[in-house]
Amino acid sequence: MTQSVQPFGVRIRGTGSCVPERRLTNEDLSKLVDTNDEWIVQRTGIHERRVCDLSTEGTFTMARDALKNALDAAEMKGSDLDLIIVGTVTAEMTCPSVAARVGAALGAVPAAAFDLSAACCGFVYSINLAQALIQSGQFRSIGVVGAECMSSIVDYSDRTVSILFGDAAGAAILTRDPDPRIGCMYSTMGSDGSGWSSLYIPRRLQEVPVSDIDNPIALGHLRMNGKEVFRFAVTKFRDVIEDAMHKTGLTPESVGQVICHQSNIRIIESAREKLGLPHEKVYINIDRFGNSSAGSVGLCLDQLWRAGKIEKERPFVMVAFGGGLTWASGVWRV
Ligand code: UT7
Repeated sequence: MTQSVQPFGVRIRGTGSCVPERRLTNEDLSKLVDTNDEWIVQRTGIHERRVCDLSTEGTFTMARDALKNALDAAEMKGSDLDLIIVGTVTAEMTCPSVAARVGAALGAVPAAAFDLSAACCGFVYSINLAQALIQSGQFRSIGVVGAECMSSIVDYSDRTVSILFGDAAGAAILTRDPDPRIGCMYSTMGSDGSGWSSLYIPRRLQEVPVSDIDNPIALGHLRMNGKEVFRFAVTKFRDVIEDAMHKTGLTPESVGQVICHQSNIRIIESAREKLGLPHEKVYINIDRFGNSSAGSVGLCLDQLWRAGKIEKERPFVMVAFGGGLTWASGVWRV
């Protein structure tokens, strides 16, 4: 947990996002697995999600295009960046990083570049880290991306995961600002690795936990114990938002937007109701984009930013949880 000392302010100069054109509807999925539109909508809030055409699209192309959109919004060029961080667990290759390829594609060489693995927390972990690096004085301009091509790791014969996930990328450009009141007011990042087997992508059979030994395993694909993740998420989500608001003195009236990882509408709604937050302060796009893991918070941020819903007077909160298990939050003033 960190409470910021603020030698510099950190400005979000621009945001961007990218989703593939291709839509995968509940109807489409019902032709692949034993499921139906009514069940998916009731249990998750999802109507459709976007999926890459894997012959031409993927994490790299979405991350590149999202960051390019954010640079354009910030009226900056790739060469203005001195670091790129991409939060993802679906990099095409473990080496090189997606971030290094994005940097080369956008003319950011010789900016530092690396990927960050924190599953659905990828964007919030990355932006928290980026702001701390700017505050430390070591970096001036950082491109932060959360990008996930979930369709490349979803087993479409597994109805638990195939209905939930979609592909997306969201990005933000952070720059050093002389006004120390601008930027991240508070952030947390945490993990509990003892819960890792609730959500994992096995590469080798040796890694498969005893609890899954009798189940069909598709190596390289996501395995999820939905019920366990759900149980963890319902309380963790509420606690993390409550902590962030409490530590910064925010109330349901004074907070701007609370931008939640789009995990499942029931998880988000449960936290919203318990915290007494009005509907209009908790943005939802899971109905159209599904759960895009590290892509989701950045995508929401960009959509809200472009719609003029991020207000100067009202700090906003970003919050996520996911595989690891991990969780993270950040409270920002723009
Ligand atoms: O992003 C972070 C990572 N992941 C998450 O946040 C996911 C958290 N978990 C969830 O969102 C939910 O657990 C799921 C959406 C994955 C599943 O919803 P659920 O309400 O927990 O369903 P369940 O697993 O308890 O299953 C209820 C019933 C079962 O049938 P019986 O045993 O009651 O007869 C399942 O076999 O629904 C059945 N079922 C389905 N039926 C139609 C499970 N998946 C499906 C399906 N279509 N896709």
